[in-house]
Amino acid sequence: AKPVTVPALGDARRAGRKLAMLTAYDAGFARVFDASGVDIVLVGDSLGMVVQGEASTLPVTVDHIEYHTRAVARGLSRALLLADLPFQADATPERALDAATRLLQAGAGMVKLEGAGPHKLDAIRFLAGREIPVSAHLGLTPQSVLRFGGFKVQGREAAAAEQLRADALAVAEAGADLLVLECVPSALAADITRASPIPTIGIGAGPHCDGQVLVLHDMLGLDTGHRRPKFVKDFLVEGGSVAGAVQAYVNAVRDGSFPDAAHAYE
Ligand code: KIV
Ligand code: NA
Repeated sequence: AKPVTVPALGDARRAGRKLAMLTAYDAGFARVFDASGVDIVLVGDSLGMVVQGEASTLPVTVDHIEYHTRAVARGLSRALLLADLPFQADATPERALDAATRLLQAGAGMVKLEGAGPHKLDAIRFLAGREIPVSAHLGLTPQSVLRFGGFKVQGREAAAAEQLRADALAVAEAGADLLVLECVPSALAADITRASPIPTIGIGAGPHCDGQVLVLHDMLGLDTGHRRPKFVKDFLVEGGSVAGAVQAYVNAVRDGSFPDAAHAYE
């Protein structure tokens, strides 16, 4: 099958074809995802919580993401490999360029960074201007957990919703080619998706995004020791096997049946 490229993401959106994304941290799962038609495989800094057993993503370093990116890259022949810039790797544009260069040289095709504050927009602009594709990530940005005071749904109040709408336009303007929306009310994610010039990928953001993402462990119903959010669905139950679960997830994203109202915030 044809490799999934950055321009192909926008093509999928224009064709009304939903994008299916999952996180992976090793070649074994990456191989299964690739064979099942997953479009984007994310080496997320969620690895701090689900692989390393940490309480947040803050302890994750560029070395960690680079190590897992190399492993995942060996398992992929088709899917786009997206890698997270971990906590403070985007604190300055120069640091972001250094980290992103390492991740692209390890096999990533795009990097993701959280937030839309002034220095985040600078980092997006800096990377995009140097031929490094960037995904933005707004809403519940887990690297902001200390300021948020926990992992909480974002954009519920009118002012916060307005800020998110503005941030979504700003990251695209700065040069992002993809936007992950995490834990925002479905109606707000739908508004943002309509207004956004770039594809949106939701997690806990309702059914109206251009695609969906889940963390591997959550999709398989593994107990990670962390509270299980409402949007998480165990696809192993209906899938019957790991490959079956991945196929069930991809099918449910493609036909729009996941997430339903039980796995979204109103
Ligand atoms: O680190 C991660 O797994 C993520 C996704 C949840 C979007 O950023
Ligand atoms: Na992440």
